[in-house]
Amino acid sequence: MKRSKLDPTSQLITSALKARKHAYAPYSNHRVGAAVLAVSGKVYSSGNVENCCYALTICAERGALYHAIAAGEHHFKAMAVTNGSDDFVVPCGVCRQVIWELAGDLPITMFNKNKRARTVPLSVLYPLPYKKKSKRRLLKHRMKRA
Ligand code: THU
Repeated sequence: MKRSKLDPTSQLITSALKARKHAYAPYSNHRVGAAVLAVSGKVYSSGNVENCCYALTICAERGALYHAIAAGEHHFKAMAVTNGSDDFVVPCGVCRQVIWELAGDLPITMFNKNKRARTVPLSVLYPLPYKKKSKRRLLKHRMKRA
């Protein structure tokens, strides 16, 4: 987590790249880095962390968000993700559901190794999320925490 004078997107890109270096991906060799900007101005990041029991793997996006939640953050502004290749990596379906529940309709910046970036709202990537609680209850919970 850190505060910086860079613009928010550059800050997220820098943090995601740094986190990617710490990815633990011995099974897939697919190293991903993600960072999320909280309303507090702090940035939280993570690389993906795999396990020999594959289903226990945590993607970089969820790692970054869980890191932020564990630090007491409940309001978010943006997320960035990269796999350091020519392509733009998009969050998997599991991450889309988790991001929706914990952060709402976040702008997701996907960037490649040349730092070319595309930003798409989560609602475009995941238009029909599964909702156990109503949006109002989720917001109420977040307000209580603020
Ligand atoms: N992965 C991520 O960390 N984020 C994504 O958006 C897609 C996939 C990870 C999970 C696994 O460790 C590896 O990439 C291969 O799927």
